[in-house]
Amino acid sequence: MASLADVLARSLDPNHSGAEVAENVKMLPPAPGAQHSVDEIAYTRTRVVNVPKALLRENRVISGFAPGPIVDAYKIMCIQTLQRLRALNGNALAVVSPGRHEGKTLTAINLALSFAQEVDQTVLLVDANLREPSVHRYFGFTPEAGLSDYLLSGTPLDRILVNPGVERFVILPGGRPLLNSAEMLGSAKMEKLVQELKMRYPSRLVIFDLSPVLSVADALAFAPYVDAALMVAQEHKTRRQDIVRAAEMLRAVELIGTVLNMAGEASQGAHVARKPGHGWFRRLARRRE
Ligand SMILES: Nc1ncnc2c1ncn2[C@@H]1O[C@H](COP(=O)(O)OP(=O)(O)OP(=O)(O)O)[C@@H](O)[C@H]1O
Ligand SMILES: [Mg+2]
Repeated sequence: MASLADVLARSLDPNHSGAEVAENVKMLPPAPGAQHSVDEIAYTRTRVVNVPKALLRENRVISGFAPGPIVDAYKIMCIQTLQRLRALNGNALAVVSPGRHEGKTLTAINLALSFAQEVDQTVLLVDANLREPSVHRYFGFTPEAGLSDYLLSGTPLDRILVNPGVERFVILPGGRPLLNSAEMLGSAKMEKLVQELKMRYPSRLVIFDLSPVLSVADALAFAPYVDAALMVAQEHKTRRQDIVRAAEMLRAVELIGTVLNMAGEASQGAHVARKPGHGWFRRLARRRE
């Protein structure tokens, strides 16, 4: 079995041209020859999914959009996040929110894609919402296995990782939903995986999409393993006191910013908690496309 480092090295080639991206879904054979440096290795055994732009647009995923205000909004958030992460000397970020359906997954995806547009970054997006994994749905593919299979059954990562046809960007899908997800996310095996993902290559960012903080213990159990968290709130839905409660529950991790998602034109996000130490604040407009 290939080591974790080998698998990721093959999957996150910063110089990958995208030329071998398959038409639909394809497992590429291992490259001939054994040892490669990170920079030399293209996608080999990572499953490649070519996602139609129309589907990405429909799902509000920024790689389906031409440069413009949507892409710019995430770019600003990306740069603010990068600056804070670098100041913390960190590269692992959890995207959280107090409740359900507030925009964690879409924010995590678009932030990760925005990071991947930075030439010196590679990005791994981990679907750590093991209750209801959904990252794959935004890209329109069905994972063969995921993080839960790695944690429970030791499924090798090279059978799990997916490249959705975007350079420098790889997804670790969630896999089969778990009821005991908090135990799995707080386990020593998960901690070791995060450490390996974080430590091996300094130019890699690892983004974790998580379950709601206030409804299940997952984010609480997992938070100590990441360097920072980004709090998403939805305008007219997330209550101020819930943001404060969620932030207090996650005090083991540095909260680097707050995103007011689905903000209307007139909103200034005044009801969102902006306590000292909560980092920067961004508004993300509601998108109709
Ligand atoms: N800025 C936005 N504009 C328009 N729609 C959005 C925006 N952000 C999220 N949505 C939509 O809201 C729904 C919930 O978003 P998302 O899946 O990101 O939430 P979530 O917090 O991850 O949910 P869950 O708690 O179930 O994991 C999706 O249909 C998504 O497309
Ligand atoms: Mg989600």
